Amino acid sequence: MEEMNVMPRIGELAPEFEAVTTQGKINFPGDFKGKWVILFSHPADFTPVCTTEFMAFGKMAAEYEALNCQLVGLSIDGLYSHIAWLRTIKDKIDYKGMKNIEIKFPLIEDVSMNVAKLYGMVQPGESKTQAVRAVFFIDPKGVIRTILYYPLSLGRNFDEIKRILIGLRTVDNFGVALPADWQPGDEVIVPTAGSCGVAKERMEDNTGELTCYDWFFCTRKLSKEDVESKLSE
Ligand code: BEZ
Repeated sequence: MEEMNVMPRIGELAPEFEAVTTQGKINFPGDFKGKWVILFSHPADFTPVCTTEFMAFGKMAAEYEALNCQLVGLSIDGLYSHIAWLRTIKDKIDYKGMKNIEIKFPLIEDVSMNVAKLYGMVQPGESKTQAVRAVFFIDPKGVIRTILYYPLSLGRNFDEIKRILIGLRTVDNFGVALPADWQPGDEVIVPTAGSCGVAKERMEDNTGELTCYDWFFCTRKLSKEDVESKLSE
């Protein structure tokens, strides 16, 4: 019978593990308490799509640091392979204007696949020997807030990953919800009032602060400056 892995889910505590990384041993997620963490997997070192992804993340590293977010990578390769691959990226790869990219965030070695299995990153229909491209967004309390899974052959969108992080933080900071394709500075959705009667009253709001499209759907302005003022905390 096919081995079944229980996959972590949104709203659950991130499963704990210890691992060896390119930056030394880590206790996950305990070592990063108080920070946002993006734990992401890639299929293999010395492969082209993964190389472009690491360069994209490496180039944005300062932006994630400014967002109080720790990046942690993982693949089912050993430490010496990771070190050699990251050195090759830094010393040799000049891609789309990105060069001399040094990866300073930890990259987990997971030859045993223990961590990859714990996080549902091995999806045998796609590959039995490589992790898919998973992304776990974990908040400062260690709770999983968003999960993305991409197949082996499709590189991720790193602007979207940053948008998700800023979006989750804005949801927490302002108690709002965010509409499709939201970007900082766009209108935000105010929580639905408890009952239809209250909501109808809200539609008649004459403070000019709300725009209501129907009784269940009201938005308000939230400036880019206000969003950004809370992001370095
Ligand atoms: C890549 O990163 O290029 C890749 C890795 C595994 C399968 C297909 C592509």
